[in-house]
Order: sequence, then C-alpha cells, then structure tokens
Amino acid sequence: MANDQALDFLWFIPSSGDGSYLGSDKLTRPSDPEYFAEIARAADRLGYSGVLIPTGAACEESFLLAAYLAAHTERLKFLVAVRPGTASPSHYARLASTLDRVSRGRLLLNIVVGGSASELAGDGIFLPHDERYNHAAEFFQVFNGLVETGKANLDGKYIKALNARLVVPPVQQPRPPLYFGGSSDAAVDFSAGIIDKYLTWGEPPAQVAEKIAHVRRAAASHGREVSFGIRLHFIVRETDEEAWEAADRLISHLTDDTIAAAQEVLRTQSDSVGQARMLALHNGRRDKLEVSPNLWAGVGLVRTGAGTALVGSPKTIAARLREYQDLGIDTVIASGFPHLEEAYRVAELLFPELGIASPLNQMRATFGEKQVFGGGGHGGNVKHSEKS
Ligand SMILES: Cc1cc2nc3c(=O)[nH]c(=O)nc-3n(C[C@H](O)[C@H](O)[C@H](O)COP(=O)(O)O)c2cc1C
Repeated sequence: MANDQALDFLWFIPSSGDGSYLGSDKLTRPSDPEYFAEIARAADRLGYSGVLIPTGAACEESFLLAAYLAAHTERLKFLVAVRPGTASPSHYARLASTLDRVSRGRLLLNIVVGGSASELAGDGIFLPHDERYNHAAEFFQVFNGLVETGKANLDGKYIKALNARLVVPPVQQPRPPLYFGGSSDAAVDFSAGIIDKYLTWGEPPAQVAEKIAHVRRAAASHGREVSFGIRLHFIVRETDEEAWEAADRLISHLTDDTIAAAQEVLRTQSDSVGQARMLALHNGRRDKLEVSPNLWAGVGLVRTGAGTALVGSPKTIAARLREYQDLGIDTVIASGFPHLEEAYRVAELLFPELGIASPLNQMRATFGEKQVFGGGGHGGNVKHSEKS
C-alpha cells in the first residue's frame, strides 16, 4: 500500500550530553543549555515539526528545558515526558498547562512510566513493573480531568485527589496530545484507552507490524484509534558506502570492555520489555549489527533506549522509511551524532527525498538563476550563468 502523506519528522535534544563517538570520551559535548538552544533553533529552521526531550536522572529537567527552548524558537513543538510517581498529577497538570501557554500551544506529552530499577528507586518508586501501569492509569484519570476540564476527584488505590483544580487551562483543546512508548502487555493495555500516538523504538519492520496490530486491537476494544510513530537514529550520507563508513566510525573508539559493562547494566538494571527487545537485536555482539536491511543496532551496544539507526543514502533510507509508513507509521523521531550537524545532514539530504517542506526552501534564494557555491569571491556565490 503506497502512502503519499509526508511523514511528520521530529528531532531530539540530547539533554544529557552529545558526542561524535559512542562509548568514548573523545569529542564529547557535555550538557549545555546554550548548545541545546542551537539544536532547537536549527531544527525549527530546517523544517522539523518538533523535538523529543528525554527524561531521566542524567538529563536536564525536561519541562524547564522546553520552556527555555520555546523562547528561542517559533514553530517547533516539544515532546516532554510526564513521569507518573515523580510528582503529583495536579503538579504535572500545572506544569503542562503553563508550558503549553508559554509555548503558545506547542506542547506534546510523552508518558514515561520507566524501566530502570535504580532510576525508579532514586525517584522513590518501588512498584513492580505491571503495577506501575495501574498507578499510571489512576494518575492520568486525575491529570486528564484537570487539563481537560479543570477539575478532578479520585479516591484510588494509588492516587488520592480531593477537589483538585486547574484554574489556568492549556492552549490546546481538549489537551496537549498524549504520546507513549512502552512495549509490555501491561503498557499496551494501560495506554490503549487514553493515548493519541503510540511510539516504538526502531525495531525491524516485521516486529513493528506485530506491535502496531497489538496496539490497534487494544485501542479498538476501547472503541478508539491511535496513530503511530517510530524513534530512530539516522546515518545518512550521499552514498550508501559513505553512510556505512560513518556507522563504523561512530563505534570506532568503543572497546569490547565498554560494551560488556554497558550490556551488564542494561540486563541487570532494567525490567523494560522495550529495552529487552532492543538488546535482543544484537545481544552485545558487534559482528552482526545490520539486523534488517539498513537497520543498524550499533547504537544499542552502549546506549539505553533507542538503539538502532537507519544507514544509507537518502534514496535508500527513504525507501526503508516508506516500508514503515506502509505499516501505519506517520511520525518519525530522529536523531544522529552529534545532533547539531546531523540535524542539518538529515534535513538537507533526506527531507527533499521524503517531500518534507523546509521553511528554508520556501525562501526565494535568488532571482531564479542557479547558483554554485564558492566561486563568487570574498566568500560569495557566483551566478551559474557567469561560470561558463
Ligand atoms: C520514543 C520513546 C521515548 C522514550 N523516552 C523515555 C525517556 O525519556 N526516559 C525513560 O526513562 N524512558 C523512556 N522511554 C521508555 C518507556 O517510556 C518505558 O518506560 C519503558 O520502555 C518501560 O516500559 P515497558 O516494559 O512496557 O517496555 C521511551 C520509550 C520510547 C518508545
């Protein structure tokens, strides 16, 4: 089934730091809000519709960072995590409403229930895996009641809210959209009744198809439909060969000891089914990283969460993305290392192939004559007609 709709493309703010080589201290960029503003401004200009801001103990606080970035951008939306258990639903409702207001309706919400035992314990959350979703269900009864109607009452097993009020409403109605990515059965059951968009990490198309079918069935049992997004890294270059070289370079300073240590932490610290599915793609082995055509699992050797990248020329990657699109994916949350340079690369190389309009393309570059770069003297361009 061909799908002619342009994909909705978001970028990523690496709010725990950035770098050029995975698992290495070479060419790293520590967390720096000014740098994140540069990435956000680039994403805004280049035609990305939004950015995902991750949440976690190693990250900058995501609501505050989004408010800061909103002031530096014009159109860009911010996908910001609500993490049940780290604060009350009424506190999160106020955060969400104010962020939606200061950004003039540019807030998207990502429900993150969590999967790392040490991180959850650090946040004071000790519920077992499936019960965390029961807690989250009560949390969103109160949260959604507040952001949609300004009122909520709940005497639940986990959450009690007595005559909770939200006086100042968000801009978006009935509320900012709810995104969610959790792969366990409990996650799908919890989310199917409330979310707008289901997110998956970049698994091979056959596995993504299974997940989509599962979520669609669960949503249908609530009389609902949800849309779908995929979270992937991108290594796009002018040719396939250059792209694979760049993938190899990204892990060229990664030692086997570093991989073993990272895999041990992921295996022992995480009860996330989504994380286990990412690990199972490569099992810590660096010799079998192309887990499906052009889908490379090298990032997941050391990085938690999204562990796969699409690798190839713009044409190759566009073809792979169309396969996901044909399964029902309409949104891509992309990233690449380092995030500022790769935001440009993905937009300049891949967006034209995908038919994604960039605001830059809408600006008149010349009076109609082609230009070549670098021949104009004093750094200027020379008009094409003057060249010959
Ligand atoms: C696109 C996407 C983004 C996510 N972002 C975060 C994040 O910022 N922080 C985090 O701790 N978990 C994040 N997660 C993990 C999930 O929200 C979830 O907590 C975890 O996978 C456990 O659920 P499971 O066992 O049901 O898979 C993300 C997942 C996806 C698919």
